[in-house]
Amino acid sequence: MAETQFTPRVFSGIQPSGNLHLGNYLGAVKHFVDMQNAGEYETVYCMVDLHAITAKLLDPDELRSNTRELCASFIASGIDPEKSILINQSQVPEHAQLAWIFNCIARMGWMQRMTQYKDKAGKNAEAASLGLLAYPALMAADILLYHGTHVPVGDDQKQHLELTRDIAAKFNHDYGVDFFPITEPVIRGAATRVMNLQDGTKKMSKSDPADKTRINMTDDADTIAKKIRKAKTDPDPLPDAFDDLAERPDARNLVNIYAALADIAPQAVLDQHAGSLFGHFKVALADLAVDKLAPIASEMSRLMDDPAEIDRILGRGAERAREITVPILEQTYDIVGMLRS
Ligand code: TYM
Repeated sequence: MAETQFTPRVFSGIQPSGNLHLGNYLGAVKHFVDMQNAGEYETVYCMVDLHAITAKLLDPDELRSNTRELCASFIASGIDPEKSILINQSQVPEHAQLAWIFNCIARMGWMQRMTQYKDKAGKNAEAASLGLLAYPALMAADILLYHGTHVPVGDDQKQHLELTRDIAAKFNHDYGVDFFPITEPVIRGAATRVMNLQDGTKKMSKSDPADKTRINMTDDADTIAKKIRKAKTDPDPLPDAFDDLAERPDARNLVNIYAALADIAPQAVLDQHAGSLFGHFKVALADLAVDKLAPIASEMSRLMDDPAEIDRILGRGAERAREITVPILEQTYDIVGMLRS
């Protein structure tokens, strides 16, 4: 299908499950801001609260507060609610409605093959919620409800985006239409997979019980600097060539983080710091991280002082979103053969 028939529109989302961290920022939010400011796309960014209860139910007050905090972090990072449509998923009911149709398009085998489902369900898949299995069909609905053409995400969402393409293609094929676009994943930059600060072979994650493994977007300057100082490294100096870091995951991770924060290529970091020991490099990295992240944390805390304003922004976002989602859902229902009232 020719992609040109669709308005270039970016959609992406983050779960309000707490502990938004540097991986979320560098792998996703920073690109959200860049794509908003590029002026080439309409941009829609979403707090996916319906997804946030699939792994386990959250305390209701905590979920509300996480959702507002995530919204504050989007805005503090540079997302402008006038330029982008900023929404909370459950406030735009068409997401759940389209997800039902997609539950009937997607095949059980597709869902059971998802690595994130397998990881999260663990050994006792019988006890996992039905929502956890259906999670990627809701994600496909999030994107396709806007006819989203581009989706900026970290590397761990690649398989879900392939499934989104499969769902769009099967819907189009089964109904003989060219209705849903085949979405392009946008997985770019030096930090598509930010690793755990204490173990460079594991992904930085909000669910890790040890706080020192990640930099949270709410951390203050001292905490950021301390976590970088204590990050695991090795005794060797930084090499001249990035390829020489292939077997040094902790070192590679810090170089990638530096590159992403400074908006330069990892090799350019080595051009500046080759020969440095980590004692030195960590000081430079901590300064850079504090410089970029501390203002976001303080702006977030300022925004969180006025939750009514955040609710107003999300209310307005939902209204603007529904100008897009209501017609697309109606057309989907027509294609499928649902009666209209
Ligand atoms: P979530 O909430 O787990 O993560 C949000 C975004 O952060 C990226 N990310 C990372 N990037 C680099 N390094 C890391 N260590 C790291 N950890 C997380 C994720 O790749 C993601 O881009 N399923 C999605 C939410 C979602 C969504 C959507 C995304 C729901 N509907 C529609 C895009 C489009 C998720 O769980 O992300």
